[in-house]
Amino acid sequence: MLRSHNCGELNINNIGQKTTLCGWIQKSRDLGGMTFIDLRDRYGITQLVFNMEKNPVLCDEARKLGREFVICVSGEIEERSNKNLKIPTGEIEIIVEKLEVLNKSKLPPFTIEDITDGGEELRMKYRYLDLRRNPLKKNIELRHRMSIETRKYLDSIGFFEIETPYLIKSTPEGARDFVVPSRMNQGEFYALPQSPQTFKQLLMIAGYDRYYQIVKCFRDEDLRADRQPEFTQIDCEMSFVDQNDILETFEGLAKYLFKEVKGIEIEKFPLMPYSEAMKYYGSDKPDIRFGMKFAELNDIVKGKNFQVFDKAELIVGIAAQGCGTYSRKQLDKLTDFVKKPQIGANGLIYVKCNEDGSFKSSVDKFFDQEALKLWAEKFNAKPGDLILVLAGETHHTRKALCELRLEMGNRLELRDPSNYCPLWVVDFPLLEWNEETQRYHAMHHPFTSPKAEDVELLETDPANVRANAYDMVINGVEIGGGSIRIHDRDLQKLMFKHLGFTDEEAQNQFGFLMNAFEFGAPPHGGIALGFDRLVALFGGQDSIRDFIAFPKNNSGRDIMIDSPSSISAEQLNELKLKVIK
Ligand code: AMO
Repeated sequence: MLRSHNCGELNINNIGQKTTLCGWIQKSRDLGGMTFIDLRDRYGITQLVFNMEKNPVLCDEARKLGREFVICVSGEIEERSNKNLKIPTGEIEIIVEKLEVLNKSKLPPFTIEDITDGGEELRMKYRYLDLRRNPLKKNIELRHRMSIETRKYLDSIGFFEIETPYLIKSTPEGARDFVVPSRMNQGEFYALPQSPQTFKQLLMIAGYDRYYQIVKCFRDEDLRADRQPEFTQIDCEMSFVDQNDILETFEGLAKYLFKEVKGIEIEKFPLMPYSEAMKYYGSDKPDIRFGMKFAELNDIVKGKNFQVFDKAELIVGIAAQGCGTYSRKQLDKLTDFVKKPQIGANGLIYVKCNEDGSFKSSVDKFFDQEALKLWAEKFNAKPGDLILVLAGETHHTRKALCELRLEMGNRLELRDPSNYCPLWVVDFPLLEWNEETQRYHAMHHPFTSPKAEDVELLETDPANVRANAYDMVINGVEIGGGSIRIHDRDLQKLMFKHLGFTDEEAQNQFGFLMNAFEFGAPPHGGIALGFDRLVALFGGQDSIRDFIAFPKNNSGRDIMIDSPSSISAEQLNELKLKVIK
């Protein structure tokens, strides 16, 4: 080793000892007789001292060193007169006796400090410099710790980690595939897996009854703060289990991670049916860190000559505690918020519950005090609260109110990132009607089994068939999803039929799986947790980008390596591909 210690470990107990350290120059201060350098590595920062009187040649050399130069120094550890108790090495410094420059550095394009002056784009281009900064380093360390703990937990209960191929045939999970042309099979393409779904099911048929993999998945879909085109799942499958066994096992994993990594004990995860999540939170991933549950007003507000309500399919609202004193301006801002195109409500109706027990609303013309009292009762609203109501088509109105609820949660600081409230959302619908294609799509994926008692409805009322599917939701984030699978060839065939596949299409795309079902497929089910999302959640952030060492930007580009990029004419030729622009 070039070094005897790292830059984060020396302290008052090492005084008088000799040390050799290697690292990057964070900053340097020249005070005439003395030069101080902060030397940084992965572990921390140690102060180096060069004394002009004792060693003028060395001090002169030190003055010439720039930021981010890589150096190796040896010297004696001394107690500092001017201590910095904020860092573990802040009570000592190294009186340097020997200095070697291991490499020079250009001036970095932004400061390598906790708070940097570099913009997003610049930091992405020089990601390797950004990764030197503490906030990113902490995230990467957290990710490492969580992957190790995940492996420990799953290994301890008998799961095998098994790799599955990246060059596969497409598995439909709702997104577009990234495809890879095959040179040896011209005109044919592999697809990169959107998830290892079919392979993990084949592993169950092979008898490996507890499988997991921390695995890259690829989806060509629009990006958001919590979506990357390549991301990582903790992908799992088990045989001879029912839904409850899976929920218990993976609730166990989540609890274990919270305990080991964050020192937090989490109570049993509540279960919430999908229909309830939609009715009371307008979302299949409710943030239950706070209440503000929806209340529906249809039965008390229709037929009062207020056209907006009379025409609406659903009239639904929330009560925000203590917001009854909101000013005209604050209410206008909320109205602008719900009218934003992304939210799409036509308007916002409010009722202020005054301290004296009276009400002031935006619909006073249609509703008297007696009527508004009934509203307040529906919301259990108290004097000082503010009732906010939206009206319109059911699904659309619920979605808009969900956004408003989250916004009010933010305003009232009810969404503390260090408070973790997980739950399971269960009983998802099996199918979802798609307006564009005018047919049903699988809400989860086509391998999810319907609830046994609902199978009959497949023919008569497909929209109301419930699935044996579940999502793990924490703080309003969908952390994971899974299901009990179909393991019977005939039921799988029926499912494909309802998804609009002809027998031939089903056989072409999924013949390998349906054939395998004929060789003793055990009952099985599983789940995949979004690892990037889980780590970001533990790190207290919404965006997953800074929990991935080398992420893509919002347009799906890696601007550091400049990818995607065109390929040479020879490569195209070899693949027999032609680029049409
Ligand atoms: P699903 O499609 O629900 O299920 O994905 C599981 C979890 O993966 C995460 N995730 C993503 N994270 C970052 N970027 C993305 N683009 C992205 N897409 C999904 C989410 C999600 O909950 N094969 C099934 C699982 C199963 O049935 O066992 C599947 O992939 O956190």
